Amino acid sequence: MNSDTSSQASQYTWDGTFSEPVDKLVLRYTASVGFDRRMWRQDIRASLAHARMLARQGILSAEDLSDIQRGMAQIAGEIESGAFEWSLNFEDVHLNIEKRLTALIGDAGKRLHTGRSRNDQVATDIRLYLRDAIDDIEILLRQFQEALLALAEREADTPMPGLTHLQVAQPVTFGHHVMAWFEMTRRDAERLTEIRRRINRLPLGSAALAGTTYPIDREFVAAELGFDGVCENSLDAVSDRDFAIEFCAAAALLMMHFSRMSEELVLWANPRVGFVKIADRFCTGSSIMPQKKNPDVPELARGKTGRVYGHLAALLTLMKGQPLAYNHDNQEDKEPLFDTVDTLIDTLRIFADMVGAGLTVQAEAMRQALSQGFATATDLADYLVRKGLPFRDAHETVGRAVRRAGELGAELAGLPLSELRAFSPLIDGDVYSILTIEGSLAARNHVGGTAPEQVRAAIARARQPGQAYNPENCG
Ligand code: ARG
Repeated sequence: MNSDTSSQASQYTWDGTFSEPVDKLVLRYTASVGFDRRMWRQDIRASLAHARMLARQGILSAEDLSDIQRGMAQIAGEIESGAFEWSLNFEDVHLNIEKRLTALIGDAGKRLHTGRSRNDQVATDIRLYLRDAIDDIEILLRQFQEALLALAEREADTPMPGLTHLQVAQPVTFGHHVMAWFEMTRRDAERLTEIRRRINRLPLGSAALAGTTYPIDREFVAAELGFDGVCENSLDAVSDRDFAIEFCAAAALLMMHFSRMSEELVLWANPRVGFVKIADRFCTGSSIMPQKKNPDVPELARGKTGRVYGHLAALLTLMKGQPLAYNHDNQEDKEPLFDTVDTLIDTLRIFADMVGAGLTVQAEAMRQALSQGFATATDLADYLVRKGLPFRDAHETVGRAVRRAGELGAELAGLPLSELRAFSPLIDGDVYSILTIEGSLAARNHVGGTAPEQVRAAIARARQPGQAYNPENCG
């Protein structure tokens, strides 16, 4: 970027009213072009729709419109090729493009700004940008979910220890665990769709804050830009960034989910646990300890979650002290927003690959872990309840059996029938089938349960987007 401001200190649009050039440090402090130039496509798209509307309304001549269209096409080419000279002297993406347009086509470039202000221009650009970003994120999220579904399907029967308080609690299938991740991200996807709907309204026409005196057609511009309608109050339209905050809140939740998955991956990949292997391309070694292979991607996803939370806090704080209408504070909305988008996109991309092809499930280690910790103790209690014992008594009986087994260094299924019957005469030889892992899994056969059959049904439902659980067609 051209940051040499010394020779061009008086090129501001507002130079007419100022008696001295803006201080050089102030110039750098107030400029946003270094980061808002990423919205150049949206800026040009919105300017062209505005220009078409002005021409249609007879506010701009047909020649001016065609000059603007020609100039904008050239500018887009220059930006794409890297030839465009961004300058701090023109503060932001909007003025940089407008100045270049005027240099290319003369007065028609100056007429483009009729009936609008940078306040409604920037609000429009951010909404377009965020809408585009959400469209990309939704596709990536869907790809990640497809990877989850494939993994869940492969491992629908694989038993693993389900944990509470990080201790072995009951057997679950790995597929069921993966489908829990799927459910988290399903809500994330729903949130994004809802937020997109609120973003998709047009601020243009609000001008600086009060609207404009020209006979504009806002509905036309809205339709041209694919908005569902117009923002209904000019003061609100130019000033509030609640839609960006809402997006960051959804992003924070999404990252929270990825951070939880990451925590589990770190745990499972630990050689002491060994439930999964993460492919080498997602790991790095240690510069000093040759034996180390670190789960970098999940660790960094966990770390980047903090960064996304920070952006949410930044935007909330940015907004809270602002009176109506536009204040320059709002320019600070972009870096947190852009970084949130970037972090989300990278995380989703990497995780889709890691979960899709980068995880090897170590089913034997999972089963091994399940053979300790009395994972089927609840099944024994349920067995006694089926034989007539009240659940609280059954719980106590099994508690005593577990303590005894612990003393003997055995699992419940490892105790002889005579030993088990000492705790309750209700226990018969058929008890061993319910003490097995497969028996325990298959018994939880209802919607939301861990039985392999239910995992497969959940996967089938998930593969038909928009088709929520319907009791009519599930057992
Ligand atoms: N670059 C500004 C922003 O990002 C838009 C310009 C509005 N500036 C102004 N002084 N009214 O918010």
